[in-house]
Amino acid sequence: MVSILAYIKSPIEAELKIFEERFKDSVKSKVPLLDTIMNYIVKRKGKQMRPLLVLHCAKLFGEINEKTYRGAALVELLHTATLVHDDVVDEAYTRRGFFSINALWKNKVAVLVGDYLLSKGLLLSLRNKDFRSLEILSTAVEQMSEGELLQMEKARKLDITEEVYFDIITKKTASLLASCCGIGAHSTQEDEQTLSDIIAMGEAIGIAFQIKDDLFDYGDNKVGKPTGIDIVEKKMTLPLIYALNNCDKSEKRSILKIIKKDKKSKNQIQEVIDFVKQKGGIEYAQKRMIEYKTKSENMLSNITTISSTDYIATLIDYVIERKK
Ligand code: IPE
Ligand code: IPE
Ligand code: MG
Ligand code: MG
Repeated sequence: MVSILAYIKSPIEAELKIFEERFKDSVKSKVPLLDTIMNYIVKRKGKQMRPLLVLHCAKLFGEINEKTYRGAALVELLHTATLVHDDVVDEAYTRRGFFSINALWKNKVAVLVGDYLLSKGLLLSLRNKDFRSLEILSTAVEQMSEGELLQMEKARKLDITEEVYFDIITKKTASLLASCCGIGAHSTQEDEQTLSDIIAMGEAIGIAFQIKDDLFDYGDNKVGKPTGIDIVEKKMTLPLIYALNNCDKSEKRSILKIIKKDKKSKNQIQEVIDFVKQKGGIEYAQKRMIEYKTKSENMLSNITTISSTDYIATLIDYVIERKK
């Protein structure tokens, strides 16, 4: 049986190889430490969701070309930069099933490595005068920083609402997936309405994607990065927000008391997880995730394309079905 991801990759295998070459070439450095770390990063690739979105969205409107490849490399460089920084911010020591950069080389190195990756993405675009791609991407970079800081503020005050949660995930995650769709489409077509329609579709995909990611935190599956860490970090995500909105005052008080603690025991973390499950928080988040999946499917079906939308539709399925 071919995996769903292998199916999505199948029509663009040669193109993915070219993207990987562009990615690898763009991070080359003569500084030995950077060279070592870049090799480490290149070898441990993730699911490549973002380049897949760029390539498939380009294919909807025309032939994948050099600008598409650079766009795919640009978004993966930026994505990798944010993951390296994110693991510093979240004090997470595993990523993609291996040690994170901060775990192996410490925070100071990871901060600089993230900046290096970002600069390499910017240079790749600038040197090729891909100004529009860079503009689409830069709005995402701006939003990602805002989203992360908004999340931090809410982790301090513990007063997050559902509305704010959706605002946070739209900014920190969906903005980049939206940009991927926009950058891909822009490389093969010029209609502005189509561009904004496909960006909107990417945003809906991104929201479903992050709800799924937040659900992983409540599971026991090996996903290649820590689970249970959101509660440790006082990060209140949709399952917990729902549970806290659907319990009595004394329950809410005692759960919030645990979350507030800087050091939590394994039992306390488990108590929060059990509470969320018992209140139906998982089912609720799944329901909202499917809502955004359907929304993105409807948006896709309203876009006029020259080739089949089948692979993007499968990618949308994958976002909510994936096991890591
Ligand atoms: C992780 O993204 C960061 C989030 C926005 C949740 P991915 O799950 O796409 O990470 P990789 O690239 O596959 O490791
Ligand atoms: C991911 O945030 C979004 C970014 C801006 C990097 P998370 O902290 O929720 O992602 P994971 O779960 O560590 O991949
Ligand atoms: Mg984070
Ligand atoms: Mg994290």
